[in-house]
Amino acid sequence: MSGTRGFFVTGTDTGVGKTVVSLALIRGLRRHGLDVGAMKPVETGVGPEGPLDALALRAAAGDADDLADVCPLRFALPAAPTVAAAAEGREVEVWAIHRAYERLAARHDCIVAEGAGGLLVPLADKLCMADLARDLDLPLIVVARAALGTLNHTFLTLEAAVSRGLDVAGVVICHASGPISPAEESNLDALRRALEGALIGEIRPLAPGEAAPPEAIDLEALLALDL
Ligand SMILES: Nc1ncnc2c1ncn2[C@@H]1O[C@H](COP(=O)(O)OP(=O)(O)OP(=O)(O)O)[C@@H](O)[C@H]1O
Ligand SMILES: [Mg+2]
Repeated sequence: MSGTRGFFVTGTDTGVGKTVVSLALIRGLRRHGLDVGAMKPVETGVGPEGPLDALALRAAAGDADDLADVCPLRFALPAAPTVAAAAEGREVEVWAIHRAYERLAARHDCIVAEGAGGLLVPLADKLCMADLARDLDLPLIVVARAALGTLNHTFLTLEAAVSRGLDVAGVVICHASGPISPAEESNLDALRRALEGALIGEIRPLAPGEAAPPEAIDLEALLALDL
């Protein structure tokens, strides 16, 4: 078992399956005997029912932590964090994320943190989601869509990560938009081949409410990494 601090789950876009993959990761890591803390540092589009991503992640991790630590920053507008904060006359108080992360990291073996949107989404003045992953010192899990456009979006995301010196623990393909066409399947095959060992999982189309199967992500490979 490695001494992993955890993972920062990012995606090639919003709505690509980051939460579904984060849930699978949390459950898998717990099955490996790790005490996992979940985090959604910033959640936007939060309504009266609360931060739904954060609540789901916290439940998968065992519901032990204060929601204020799991999701320290919440905004109502379903938009990028800086935009959603500005709509409320607020700023994204990045320090609050770091305080919450320190508390969670002190309580758990490792942290699974789900980013908002993709890697270059602005978080504050001159700070984007990639900077947060770097400052939290967590390697990335990149969630890639299965549908057309994924080659470009995945390579762009990986290039942005590498150019910023971020460690990429692996890529997980997620079929968030359901079954794909034969053309998209051929396209996806090209991505699978290009990624080689960096591809650590694939989550096939799930039925509503169905959880990803435990074997969908290669946790042995992930935990063997020295990042
Ligand atoms: N493999 C899958 N099969 C079927 N539906 C999926 C699959 N993966 C994700 N979904 C669905 O697609 C939608 C988007 O997934 P999810 O919420 O995980 O994306 P996200 O990247 O976390 O989005 P956000 O940017 O809003 O945080 C959800 O309704 C989810 O249930
Ligand atoms: Mg999500």
